[in-house]
Amino acid sequence: MDKGYLLHEGKAKRVYTLEDTEGEDGFDPKEHLLVEFKDSISAFDGVKVDEMPEKGVLNNKISSIIYTFLEEQDVSTHFVKKLNSKEMLVKRVDIIPLEVVIRNIVSGSLIKRLGFKEGTILKYPVVELYYKNDSLSDPMINEYHIKNLEIATEEEVEAVTKKALEINELLVPYFNERDLLLVDYKLEFGRDSDENIILADEISPDSCRLWDRETYKILDKDRFRKDMGEVLEGYSEILQRISGGEQ
Ligand code: TMP
Ligand code: ASP
Repeated sequence: MDKGYLLHEGKAKRVYTLEDTEGEDGFDPKEHLLVEFKDSISAFDGVKVDEMPEKGVLNNKISSIIYTFLEEQDVSTHFVKKLNSKEMLVKRVDIIPLEVVIRNIVSGSLIKRLGFKEGTILKYPVVELYYKNDSLSDPMINEYHIKNLEIATEEEVEAVTKKALEINELLVPYFNERDLLLVDYKLEFGRDSDENIILADEISPDSCRLWDRETYKILDKDRFRKDMGEVLEGYSEILQRISGGEQ
């Protein structure tokens, strides 16, 4: 499967079209894209950046394992298959420019918003919507803002919220069984060619807070945000636990 042209480059991934080899592997090049995970790591809207060799490999593995699990649980995602160490094949979707954050334990920006102590277990999961727009620094928005921005319909916002909570019901026990606490994370959704809303983007330690269940040791990108060191050691630990040692 050959890469076509670069369609989009973000801070952590490049998205390519597929070379038009007309369904050579049974995958319509008009309906699929290739995602390449980069080794760049960034935080605070790209203010802090670095290169970490092998980060792309780790995130591709981690994301592929989690999407495979979700697909097995009948969650529709854009994930088709892992192609090689840094690339995955995905369904082409029209990304809804919303960052859907789900929180189970208080950390990050929620500390200031609610005044709760870091590590407080939330009685009810919290869903927050942010407008994916770098020039505005991804502001938090609600359904009234979304309506005026015309980035999603009311029904779509409802569907995205419901799907995010359903995914959370699956992922919290999934990580728990692997001695990890899913503190909070960010999801993105897209519309497929039939206008179905499906899970897209990635689920990796770049976009999740994951702590060791017993010690609360931070294993995700907060190690980079907070200059804690051993960033990729944390990512490898997560991979080790979710792959059951098989990589
Ligand atoms: P926050 O506490 O900084 O609002 O972040 C909540 C979660 O969302 C956390 O798991 C990190 C993730 N996140 C992203 O994936 N991308 C972002 O741009 C931000 C701000 C947070
Ligand atoms: N994802 C954002 C960035 O790359 C913010 C963050 O994760 O802290 O800058």
